[in-house]
Amino acid sequence: MIPYCSICWDNDKVKLLDQRLLPRDEIYLEITDYHEIIDAIKTLAIRGAPAIGVAAAMGAALGALALKTEDPKEFAIQFTYICREIAAARPTAVNLFWALDRMQALAQAHAAEPVGKLKELLVAEAQTMLKEDEAINRRMAQAGQVVIHEGSRVLTHCNTGALATGAYGTALGVMRAAWEAGKRFSVWVDETRPLLQGARLTTWELGKIGIPYTLIPDGAAAALMAKGLVDLAIVGADRIAGNGDTANKIGTYGVAVLAHYHGVPFYVAAPLSTFDFSLADGNQIPVEERAGEEITHLWGQAIAPADAAALNLAFDVTPHDLISGIITEEGVAQPPYASSLKTLRRSKG
Ligand code: MRU
Repeated sequence: MIPYCSICWDNDKVKLLDQRLLPRDEIYLEITDYHEIIDAIKTLAIRGAPAIGVAAAMGAALGALALKTEDPKEFAIQFTYICREIAAARPTAVNLFWALDRMQALAQAHAAEPVGKLKELLVAEAQTMLKEDEAINRRMAQAGQVVIHEGSRVLTHCNTGALATGAYGTALGVMRAAWEAGKRFSVWVDETRPLLQGARLTTWELGKIGIPYTLIPDGAAAALMAKGLVDLAIVGADRIAGNGDTANKIGTYGVAVLAHYHGVPFYVAAPLSTFDFSLADGNQIPVEERAGEEITHLWGQAIAPADAAALNLAFDVTPHDLISGIITEEGVAQPPYASSLKTLRRSKG
């Protein structure tokens, strides 16, 4: 049992673990206003594609609860406006839009119900999405854990654990399932500049599960692979295009290129809610650009000259031909992805 959760619904409040403060402080925010959910997503108090999706759904539910109108038509207009506001929080993780589309589809399907009933349905739907995410992650982890062997040395980038999801994790969930299946292995954790999701969060989660890890600067991955010290890499995803091109935390593409050069298998683990089949390839994935201060400052302290120019792209796109397999809740897709992903999508129905 892991004694923390990224997000939950509690008596018409959203409780979320403030990831900006980890690992130093374990503090839960209690949120009743959807504007605070938007702020939490923007400032990465909650982050990771599936967790952002659940937060967006719960934010929409909070917004619905606060609406004063009893007129279903007016409710629909105002609810759409709230969903649009939440959708503008971050651009890359498609789970955000997927979750809001699902909430809006539910509202439309029940547009004739009294507003009170509609609010109940929306609150229930957001909680269902959280439960489903855990179940999906557990299935994905079971499907993927076969890629980890006794004694494997796994490299990972960013944070993809229970913190980044509703529960259990994606790439880190695959590691957790392998560990729970009795395999013993170790993990190289990329620190993941600039916001250190690896150093702060992945280490914290692996430590709680008991999986041995070693933290490395992002730039060390090449040397470790050259020395033959990495057996496979597994990462998560924020958005996967129809051809398998994968957007994930900045630096992931570099890991994939290194893995390819050194003959190290490189896997992506993501639920089908992270796929965007409307995009033919990764060139069309919007990449978030964040404030330069996230690079020039650390914990509020300047680490670069005050006038330093900084480019802070939060994600990069790994071309599908560098990916050995994409682990999903419906199984592990192998190249060629254009056809294997279609098959997985159909099997989901
Ligand atoms: O900016 P972040 O921390 O939200 O970026 C998160 C990632 O890139 C994760 O690897 C991705 O969302 C997968 S999480 C299961």
